[in-house]
Amino acid sequence: MPEKEDALVRAIAAAGMGIVRLASDGRLVSMTAAALDLLGLADAPADADVRTLPLDGIVADFPEEHPLLPTAEGRVQLRFRPPIGERALLRQAIREYDTEGKAAGWLLLFWPLAENRPEAQLRRQQKLETIGVLASGIAHEINNPINIMMNYGELIQDTVGPDSPLYPYAAQIIAESERVGKIVKNLLAFARQEGQAYAPAWTTDVIEAGLSLVRSIARKDQIALVVDVPERLPRIQCRSQQLQQVLMNLVTNARDALNEKYPSHHDDKQILVTAGEFAIDDRPWVRITVEDHGPGVPEDLRAKIFEPFFTTKPRDQGTGLGLPVSRAIVHEHKGVLWLESEPGRWTRFHVDLPVDDGWRLDEPEP
Ligand SMILES: Nc1ncnc2c1ncn2[C@@H]1O[C@H](COP(=O)(O)OP(=O)(O)O)[C@@H](O)[C@H]1O
Ligand SMILES: [Mg+2]
Repeated sequence: MPEKEDALVRAIAAAGMGIVRLASDGRLVSMTAAALDLLGLADAPADADVRTLPLDGIVADFPEEHPLLPTAEGRVQLRFRPPIGERALLRQAIREYDTEGKAAGWLLLFWPLAENRPEAQLRRQQKLETIGVLASGIAHEINNPINIMMNYGELIQDTVGPDSPLYPYAAQIIAESERVGKIVKNLLAFARQEGQAYAPAWTTDVIEAGLSLVRSIARKDQIALVVDVPERLPRIQCRSQQLQQVLMNLVTNARDALNEKYPSHHDDKQILVTAGEFAIDDRPWVRITVEDHGPGVPEDLRAKIFEPFFTTKPRDQGTGLGLPVSRAIVHEHKGVLWLESEPGRWTRFHVDLPVDDGWRLDEPEP
């Protein structure tokens, strides 16, 4: 009775539940549209063969002997290519049998996790927007006095002349004001009020520009910034300043992590920045990775650290904004920001960006 079955599937989909059907060896057989959504594959063509979807398989760590799982604990990690670190809640795993009563596979029923439901996403978005408005308000408020300070610094220099002992003091006032001005400018960019247009940029240039801003802070803390990026990486359609911001945030976090583990010099006090190309369904992507051998991120914090204002750092150090803002920026670039970590040993943050997301560069390469 196919028709009735369709109605049933539609009703279940309307409730937000996704269904995945697996063969008994764990191979993917089919899945509903809602399941595609939950697995972040909503853009897959409607007639796509499920076996070709960028899904490495469902790492369902449910025990063979318990065909019906307890509903609350059945968290299953879904592994993606690239892994996106998102989880759905496995509501039930139902054993399927063929007409002869032989085990034929599994029917997995997924709920979206609470934080992935639309209303939670909206709340998060609103929080980020509030931060943006606040930040830009503060930035404008600070800009004026900073400019005035800089002007007075220059006035002092002009008045006393370069031979005066006051001259270097004035120079210091100007330099520091410029620094604050830069922070404010970053804050504005960060608040995403500047509305930079998307334009093609060489991946390598974006990485270089982002790192140039954090080199000195790494050096100050006796951290070696090891960059291993191939010369020839494709161009990406991006807001380059925002991507630089993302890199800065990740490197700054790596620095904090290393400082926590190694207060002074240590041979392993390194931040590794690597990049490379890969493909999803024949489409080119680039991956930029920031790795540190710091304390790592415990399993139970991996979703939390992306929440606005979540920080494990002292009050005067952490804002808890770096990761949520970075993730928002990467999402706007249709990319994925995710992490792997072995607590106590290392952390890797990956920025995966599509090179060709329906746009093409027709002009010849320079
Ligand atoms: N490389 C890392 N190693 C260990 N923990 C990290 C790393 N990067 C981020 N974190 C964790 O994520 C939290 C949130 O990071 P973030 O959003 O940048 O805010 P903040 O750096 O202000 O705390 C940090 O407080 C820290 O606990
Ligand atoms: Mg941070």
